[in-house]
Amino acid sequence: MTDATALDKRIRRHVIGPPQLFFAATAPGLEPVCAAELAACIPGVQPQPVAGGVSFQARLDDGFRANLMLRTANRVLMRIARFQAAHFKQLEKALADIAWELYLARETPVAPRVVAHRSRLHHSGAIGERLADAVAGRRRGAVFNPLPAAAAPTPQAVFVRADQDRFIVSLDASGDLLHKRGLKTDVGPAPLRETLAAAILAQVGYTGEEPLLDPMCGSGTFVLEAAMQATRTPPGWYRDFAFARWPAYRPQRWAYLRRMVQTAMRKPAPSPIWGFDHDPPACRRIEAALAKGGLEDSAAIQCRDFFDLDPAALSPVPGVAVINPPYGRRLGSTSESRALFGRIVAHLTRFYAGWRVALIAPPGAEQLAPRTLTAHRLPHGGLDLRLFTGTLPR
Ligand SMILES: C[S@@+](CC[C@H](N)C(=O)[O-])C[C@H]1O[C@@H](n2cnc3c(N)ncnc32)[C@H](O)[C@@H]1O
Repeated sequence: MTDATALDKRIRRHVIGPPQLFFAATAPGLEPVCAAELAACIPGVQPQPVAGGVSFQARLDDGFRANLMLRTANRVLMRIARFQAAHFKQLEKALADIAWELYLARETPVAPRVVAHRSRLHHSGAIGERLADAVAGRRRGAVFNPLPAAAAPTPQAVFVRADQDRFIVSLDASGDLLHKRGLKTDVGPAPLRETLAAAILAQVGYTGEEPLLDPMCGSGTFVLEAAMQATRTPPGWYRDFAFARWPAYRPQRWAYLRRMVQTAMRKPAPSPIWGFDHDPPACRRIEAALAKGGLEDSAAIQCRDFFDLDPAALSPVPGVAVINPPYGRRLGSTSESRALFGRIVAHLTRFYAGWRVALIAPPGAEQLAPRTLTAHRLPHGGLDLRLFTGTLPR
């Protein structure tokens, strides 16, 4: 048996075959939504929500699938080692004992990402250097698979977390953060993260079957997210992932998994999706992003003013309206954003009876929201905003 064949066997036995421990990192508060998503996309999985994310055990393919399917996770990590270390000799030994050839190709540079709390070893730079040295040392002594000829040697993030001298080492399976869906090229100012938009759509109970309107759509985060949901397009469909450069990645298996997912996809969306904004460049950016994903028939973008719009002219049945009005630096002053929010609420109350709404209130304007709606905390851009959801009375 050649060295390369022996290594492939070990990769199958240790990485592809047995269940692995994964961690889907989320924004604070989104852990339960992400756990529900995991339970829906991986049969038999038992997600454990903890602060900052969701732990789950799954086969490697399902860990890859989580990257493709999760709308609310920021990234997916695969745990590869746990140990105690109170001084550098212990840390060096534990890092040198990791069989790095199972996880990294020969040419892949390592990007250490270290966080240490309440530990005797707390200097993140020094811990990262030990990690890089351990990988380099292993590369001198063991056989590693080369990267496929077409793949660029992109750095692989390796997360090291130390808490009370207990270390966890994980590989980042995602690469770019998962809120990057691969459609927007030019995002415009202050967009909502797609992960947060997905959680808001879940909170307002959007199913993808009913009409949806974002009348102040900015860079179109809600519109794109809704178009992908309604066409059953996975959030990761248009992008790639760090795991595609792992020695355990099998392109044919990934292509098969994508084909299986594709059988459920449908185009166009079954109900209309509208995105309106009074800013023409914003409208053009969204149209470009929709076209990139072949979603232009699933959402209609128009340059128009929210206050000129009577939704009864759009849809005979009430749908879902999501509104993230301008506030803060974009509007100059708190009193201006408060006044605008008051006008928005008055317009909604008059014209949107029976519509389900998700309405983000600017700081200081929360008391102006319709009393029939339910308030939720919404951390966004360093602000503690409030999201209001519910059905407007007829
Ligand atoms: C906070 S941004 C929306 C951000 C969007 N949710 C995103 O993720 O990119 C608010 C948007 O409302 C638009 N807007 C403000 N007043 C409007 C009005 N009266 N009619 C239509 N659009 C308006 C602005 O042009 C801006 O793009």
